[in-house]
Amino acid sequence: MLSYDFETYDKYVDKNDLNSYKSKNDAIREKFHGGELAYWTNVATYIKSEELDEIKRTAQSIREICDVFIVIGIGGSYMGSKAVIEALSPMYKRPKPEIIFLGKNINPNEYVEVLDYVKDKDIAVNVISKSGTTLEPSIAFDLVLDLMKNKYDESELKKRVVITTDETSGTLRELADSEGYTSFVVPTVVGGRYSVFTPVGLFPISVAGIDVDKLLMGVKRAMEEELDNAITYATIRDILYNKDKCIESFTVYDERLNYLVEWLKQLFAESHGKDNKGIFPVGNINTRDLHSMGQFLQEGKDILFETIIGIKNNRSIFIEKYSWDLNDMNNMALEKVCEAHSNGHTPSSIIWMDSLDEENLGRIMQFFMFAAIVGGIQLGINPFDQPGVQEYKRLVTEGLNK
Ligand code: PA5
Repeated sequence: MLSYDFETYDKYVDKNDLNSYKSKNDAIREKFHGGELAYWTNVATYIKSEELDEIKRTAQSIREICDVFIVIGIGGSYMGSKAVIEALSPMYKRPKPEIIFLGKNINPNEYVEVLDYVKDKDIAVNVISKSGTTLEPSIAFDLVLDLMKNKYDESELKKRVVITTDETSGTLRELADSEGYTSFVVPTVVGGRYSVFTPVGLFPISVAGIDVDKLLMGVKRAMEEELDNAITYATIRDILYNKDKCIESFTVYDERLNYLVEWLKQLFAESHGKDNKGIFPVGNINTRDLHSMGQFLQEGKDILFETIIGIKNNRSIFIEKYSWDLNDMNNMALEKVCEAHSNGHTPSSIIWMDSLDEENLGRIMQFFMFAAIVGGIQLGINPFDQPGVQEYKRLVTEGLNK
């Protein structure tokens, strides 16, 4: 379950402000309920049940044959799965297979190290690119495939290479068809940063041994129960934005949520940052960042608001010296800092997860995807395109062809 603490915004968000969004928000709700956004309230948009079975089967066989599973992709093609895997896997005693994310940079150092690290290990790869033309994953895949061709014969390669791409077009689709590699489809309607619950995210998550059925159960529950909360959250963001709060900190108190924050930064920056509009998202991991960024949130320029994601029930360690359970202490600090920031000039509010598990993670990620779509409509931009990203891709390609 999720619970919300939006009333901490009362000082900044007047009930009249909220009421003024009523007709606009009713129209947006209609779009989700049977209108042009209805596909976002149906899990089958993300994944068909036969496809999910195939994903689980393939993931199981990959788990049996490799020590290292390399996931190649950039932006929306990897951030969601990394967020889920980091959140739900042990931090240190990592289970087999080890998962390495590649193709998110073109820094040679990482490639030299990774290729050397995996050369004598049993490996499998999943390359993910909707367009099939993005530079970074394309370079990574060429390098990894070359290495694998030196290690494995054709029939082994077919067991170890999985391609996730568009159903009909692009070089990766052609390769999957010509070589007979296993492939999964990125649904046309679902863009990169909204694709974590499609084969883009579900296949790597499944290879990591995470229960995708429970994850999708959380998504389904969010589709049934969280749309109104997402509309409220998006509306509060929009009101604050119109009061010149143009930076939002996504703040967490558990390092395992580090990549959830990265995914949120991408979701909101790429969906809303266009036409000279948008709230700039930043991330804070506390209590670590209270000793750096916290100063700015408390007393710096008055341009910020904060959305905290808390975990109510976590593991516990009793600290004799203070007679406190450490989880209780962490959450007490979270609430006190929220109060301190709100008493300063940073509106600060908490979204609580009961616990950090598959179902709550599915639920909260779907909640935020709803909020990104709703917020984009309120802002008057298209939350599904990314013309700025296309522009950098175009210029780098032009540079390459000189
Ligand atoms: O969210 C998005 O659409 C982007 O971040 C893309 O996922 C990213 O640019 C990678 O694109 P592709 O999957 O076509 O390689």
